[in-house]
Amino acid sequence: MAFDIEMIKKVYGNMAARVDKARELTGRPLTLTEKILYAHLWEGMPTQTFQRGKDYVDFAPDRVACQDATAQMALLQFMHAGKSKVAVPTTVHCDHLIQAKVNAETDLAAAKKSSNEVFDFLSSVSNKYGIGFWKPGAGIIHQVVLENYAFPGGMMIGTDSHTVNAGGLGMIAIGVGGADAVDVMSGMAWELKFPRLIGVKLTGKLSGWTAPKDVILKVAGILTVKGGTGAVIEYFGEGATSMSCTGKGTICNMGAEVGATTSTFGYDASMSRYLRSTGRADVADAADAIAPYLTADAEVYANPEQYFDQVIEINLSELEPHLNGPFTPDLATPISKMKEEAIKNNWPLKIEYGLIGSCTNSSYEDIARAASLAQQVADKKLKTKAKFTITPGSETVRYTIERDGFIDIFDKINATVFANACGPCIGMWDREGAEKEERNTIVHSFNRNFSKRADGNPNTLAFVGSPELVTAMAIAGDLTFNPLTDTLINEDGIEVKLDEPTGNELPPKGFDAEDPGYQAPAADGSGVNVIVDPKSERLQLLAPFEPWDGQNITGAKLLIKAFGKCTTDHISMAGPWLRFRGHLDNISNNMLIGAINAFNQKANSVKNQLTGSYEAVPAVQRAYKAAGIPSIVVGDHNYGEGSSREHAAMEPRFLGVKAVLVKSFARIHETNLKKQGMLALTFANEADYDKIQEDDTISITNLTAFAPGVPLTLEFKHADGTVDTIVANHTYNEGQIGWFKAGSALNLIAAGKA
Ligand code: F3S
Repeated sequence: MAFDIEMIKKVYGNMAARVDKARELTGRPLTLTEKILYAHLWEGMPTQTFQRGKDYVDFAPDRVACQDATAQMALLQFMHAGKSKVAVPTTVHCDHLIQAKVNAETDLAAAKKSSNEVFDFLSSVSNKYGIGFWKPGAGIIHQVVLENYAFPGGMMIGTDSHTVNAGGLGMIAIGVGGADAVDVMSGMAWELKFPRLIGVKLTGKLSGWTAPKDVILKVAGILTVKGGTGAVIEYFGEGATSMSCTGKGTICNMGAEVGATTSTFGYDASMSRYLRSTGRADVADAADAIAPYLTADAEVYANPEQYFDQVIEINLSELEPHLNGPFTPDLATPISKMKEEAIKNNWPLKIEYGLIGSCTNSSYEDIARAASLAQQVADKKLKTKAKFTITPGSETVRYTIERDGFIDIFDKINATVFANACGPCIGMWDREGAEKEERNTIVHSFNRNFSKRADGNPNTLAFVGSPELVTAMAIAGDLTFNPLTDTLINEDGIEVKLDEPTGNELPPKGFDAEDPGYQAPAADGSGVNVIVDPKSERLQLLAPFEPWDGQNITGAKLLIKAFGKCTTDHISMAGPWLRFRGHLDNISNNMLIGAINAFNQKANSVKNQLTGSYEAVPAVQRAYKAAGIPSIVVGDHNYGEGSSREHAAMEPRFLGVKAVLVKSFARIHETNLKKQGMLALTFANEADYDKIQEDDTISITNLTAFAPGVPLTLEFKHADGTVDTIVANHTYNEGQIGWFKAGSALNLIAAGKA
């Protein structure tokens, strides 16, 4: 599975000179975040400084990681890049497509059957293009990355929002859409707005019932789900260095829940210990040799207000365990206040399930501390009131905790061990009775607790806590229970109190696994065939999009004038459509079905100008496509906000939409449209949105003169024969116009011109 020590040494070899140069250019001490960012500029040695929150900067990440749900379209696109191998070390992890129902063995076997062709496809593409492949059951992407690939001072992108977990090992690791991953895998630069910086100073020390999870639950309460947007959160202080590396991972993981670009910690002894314990002593040695470059300059942490845009201070010695929820991870309640809040809000007090594990919290330390509580059930003659499940983050963790006796302890409280996969964290939990949609309470140590997230039941109230608190709450089965102060009645009718959890940070006998589940790629993949069944409904090889024909667009029909909010979920819904993420034709049947038609205020009902009848949006667009008629989509403000899902741009492109004209775009979606060879346009005069009518036929009259900074002119011919001429702005630069002309950015890469 070989982490790439040569690559890491190369990064470290450049680090000092680049960081010193950045310090000279900025004329001040640097935060860790700035050091890593300036050391990873696409141009190499820094030549200028960047304004936080303003400048878009090209970076050269060291690694890419993809999970199975998002990797499908990313790899299908990469196959078109015309490369024989990925340009940077890349891994694929099969973790999202495994449903939790019975137990690890049964569920894994079922997933291998139901998603067999997807796993086979990912395996063969990985084998062919030099990508490390982690089989189903090997573990959850972020835990596997932390155990094998993350390294202090590195930069990584991943096609999953919790890629940020690797900040626990001092990385800048950022979640992106598949199109961005394809760029980096193809050897192109990756663009990011230079982030704002939030410093979190941790004083004091964790003890007793309080865990690293409580730090981020507290931060979430302070920042709320939007407070970290556009920012990197950098943690520092004695409280940071005194906590475990995996604890730091938990904190960084849930930075996604406050909207942060990512989170990170400076290199310290806990990271060195973790690297050595996971078989990477040479990385630890290399990091030790440049340690001052892997943390902020001392002056920064001494006077953080001067160097961060915002500073938060948390005293760990005073921090209480928290439970956050329900329905949002920023509703933070210290455990001492939970009884009052639960009663006040009429939350169901009986806890039905306690679930621990996931990518957020399944370290050896987490499991050991939770097990120390489970052990007390027998020792103190208690009975666990709620059902209890564990989803280990990796086979390495699972094997090691089994070897060290923890699974036996959990067995005694009738726990179910699910597969090393996402399972209940992503709604892949076939929970018995969930379809009845009864109001109920669960507690878990995952990261997200939105409605339906765990079991699909909108009436499940999920509260997020540390694994140890979740275990204690499951034992008590009562949301009003505070293990710090309250007692339980045991089988003998005696009042007993749970002792504080304890556990080793790392396994005293080291980590182990019989088969970690890794498949190395072929040294020469040229002979490897990627097999996709042409009859498959889940996978479809992509054909390159047609290049521009060099003509103005004439006779286009208005497909839809979308009213109000139109997010990537409205454009390309998730839920049941997830299974078609690797099949562009099939998933295109969800195109814009959530968007509201401005003319009838209905979703998925637009006028087919060829027949005059109202039909589903994809059906109308397919009719235009079949007739060889181009079309245009019109939208409101912040069109395409939400996720970075490239399907929202690929589907209209695939079905023959030529342009999207809106009041304003969410930036990532605008870029995705450009990458797929579409025209992403904005009204020069927003009021022109009102001029567009349902039966309009549209021409773009100066597309042949498409150039940076030159607006395009659109003529809207109405049913009564009148014409409105509308000016549309765009933000295409020369290179992006090249994407449009070639049919897509990938076409240009494949032609060796990008
Ligand atoms: Fe999987 Fe949940 Fe993490 S979906 S990647 S375990 S956030």
